[in-house]
Amino acid sequence: MTALTRIPELAMPLPADLQGFTLTPSAQSPRLLQMTFSREVVTAFVEAVAEWPVQALEYKSMLRFRVAKLLDDLCGNTLQPVLINTLVDRATGGLQVVPEGLDDVAQAEEMVKFATAVAHLMGRSNFDAMSGQFYARFVVRNVDESDSYLRQPHRVMELHNDGTFVEQDTDYVLMMKIDERHMQGGDSLLLHLDDWEDLERFYRHPLAHRGMRWAAPPSKNVAKDVFHPVFDVDREGRPIMSYIDQFVQPKDFEEGNWLCDLSESLEGSAATLSVPNPVGSFLLINNHFWLHGRDRFTPHPELRRELMRQRGYFTHAATRPQR
Ligand SMILES: [Fe+2]
Repeated sequence: MTALTRIPELAMPLPADLQGFTLTPSAQSPRLLQMTFSREVVTAFVEAVAEWPVQALEYKSMLRFRVAKLLDDLCGNTLQPVLINTLVDRATGGLQVVPEGLDDVAQAEEMVKFATAVAHLMGRSNFDAMSGQFYARFVVRNVDESDSYLRQPHRVMELHNDGTFVEQDTDYVLMMKIDERHMQGGDSLLLHLDDWEDLERFYRHPLAHRGMRWAAPPSKNVAKDVFHPVFDVDREGRPIMSYIDQFVQPKDFEEGNWLCDLSESLEGSAATLSVPNPVGSFLLINNHFWLHGRDRFTPHPELRRELMRQRGYFTHAATRPQR
């Protein structure tokens, strides 16, 4: 696999041959890899985990790791090292995962189980305060009355990192498409930090490393503000980011205007990828050096989109320095 041999420092040894899935560069960028699971493995996985409804995974955290092991076993244990290495590989760090044959909203439970298995081979998904579970499913419709841009169509959701206003480590973000009707546009937007033209300019600025206040609106169910700078460094001293325009609370004129400049630069980057994510597929990215957002969509009275997300921390390798 040429996509794998260039990883300079491996978190763990890679298998000689992959079983049950393929790994190729995506159509959008060599940084985003496409991981496709064969129909046989997907079917075998669905059968192997049939005894546990998603509710069982909600009630018993340990079962999330058991479904992970079952999926890795079906792939001859070649899946786990690839996931662990790819998520912390600075050159890539992002996957579009396509389970063949999981492509209808009627299979939503199986989709959640499959994504949970993949995530728990390299991490553990955090409690999601919005849903009260380790994952959140939410619907986007033509009209929305929420207090953030998460579910609002017809406008861009700007590039950002997740977990900016919580104290939990948010090493990865998983975004799955469960259903989609009458949707035009609305592709996922992704930007790898090392592709951003102005990274150096903003990272070198004194305000880049000043602690700022981050506060969420009421729907996020997070009462406490957190303080951290927009930029930090990874284990190798390379820039990483924790930023979202909606929830940063600049304390003065200087911070506010620097943040506006930063936002304009990000939104104007020619390196942003626009990635269509079909029903049943999901994006899995390193949240420290990939920013994500969503393109605008065309209004339609019967528009419906259902998404599932998980965010969590790495359990085998790390991007951030040990604290
Ligand atoms: Fe997000």
